[in-house]
Amino acid sequence: MPLFFFSLRFLFLSAIIPLLASIVLYRFDTFDPALLPSDALVYSTDSISPLINDQLLTGAEFIGAGLLNSPEDIAYHRDSGLIYTGCVDGWVKRVKALESVNDSVVEDWVNTGGRPLGIAFGLHGEVIVADAYKGLLNISDDGKKTELLTDEAEGVKFKLTDAVAVRDNGVLYFTDASYKYNLHHFAFDLWEGKPHGRLMSFDPITRTTRVLLRYRYFSNGISMSADQTHLVFCETPLRRCSKYYINEERVEVFIQSLPGYPDNIRYDGDGHYWIAMPSGVTMLWKLSFRYPFIRKLQGLAAKYGFDTMIFENAGVLQVDLDGKPIALYHDSKHSHVTSGVKIGKYLYCGNLVYSHILRLDLLKYPAQKRL
Ligand SMILES: *[C@@H]1O[C@H](CO)[C@@H](O)[C@H](O)[C@H]1NC(C)=O
Ligand SMILES: *[C@@H]1O[C@H](CO)[C@@H](O)[C@H](O)[C@H]1NC(C)=O
Repeated sequence: MPLFFFSLRFLFLSAIIPLLASIVLYRFDTFDPALLPSDALVYSTDSISPLINDQLLTGAEFIGAGLLNSPEDIAYHRDSGLIYTGCVDGWVKRVKALESVNDSVVEDWVNTGGRPLGIAFGLHGEVIVADAYKGLLNISDDGKKTELLTDEAEGVKFKLTDAVAVRDNGVLYFTDASYKYNLHHFAFDLWEGKPHGRLMSFDPITRTTRVLLRYRYFSNGISMSADQTHLVFCETPLRRCSKYYINEERVEVFIQSLPGYPDNIRYDGDGHYWIAMPSGVTMLWKLSFRYPFIRKLQGLAAKYGFDTMIFENAGVLQVDLDGKPIALYHDSKHSHVTSGVKIGKYLYCGNLVYSHILRLDLLKYPAQKRL
């Protein structure tokens, strides 16, 4: 066979057929990403912190190495000094973090049978868990009883219960990141770019679940304000955290144009919130969120097993009570930081992929003035 025909056939088989197939796939696939609100596409300098440590990994210690499977959230129990964290294998683990990392102790406490994400403490010593697959759980203080509090509102089931905060009157406030996609498929929620998230409350006395806000974009971390008047919650693809005033039922921007995609937010009891960002803003994330057709391609790729969600330059932003940035701790070589909180002189970080909790001594490795 003349070489010419051979190469034509080769070209046809190797390039044109796959190209035609992808065009057909693209056109007829029902996955239909939307434009994001325009303020999500603003990259302003307002949220640039005056202080920075861009070498989060330098000097970092790894607590519970090998014993903590993707510890997502971190909740510090002041009375016992224990850190509670939820792992991907369903375990809520308790960590006694000591000065020497190697002497730290990890205890398998309770397995929810789901995927514990957000953790908070109830008024009577119980542990409240936002379990991605199960809903909102109440674990008794002795760990012997796990009770499902709620897993639906207004007839719509939660698909991705994400984070929880407790008010001093006992009411629980929590987020469902998506009623459409579960944790395993969360990438599709981001690629689709539609608001499937809700902010809700659960009153343990009346046992009622109330929807406070609907149509939120992947509503993720949540924290109760120090004065108990409002919540602060994060919407990941919008790079924004908002305040929700509980009595007034009013929403206000807390911080926007974040340098990354916010996950959990934690109050440290000392005038600061810590906002974890599993990834910083990259060119690919920017393009994805600007152009729905790129997200459509990414969604199609994900359907066929190709992951184009790349996390890099993860970190934690410390802000004051008004949402004003104070310090950023991050590292271009680090990813998937999902939670951060200051306990004593240390910053503790949870994550989505490693088998440890990262700890940084903030006195030894402080954030410093930007050059
Ligand atoms: C802690 O354990 C790791 C791994 O076993 C070891 O490499 C390191 O030297 C230990 N550190 C201290 C301070 O003992
Ligand atoms: C959680 O369960 C315990 C009993 O194990 C109960 O005392 C407590 O009030 C419950 N908390 C909530 C928020 O329902």
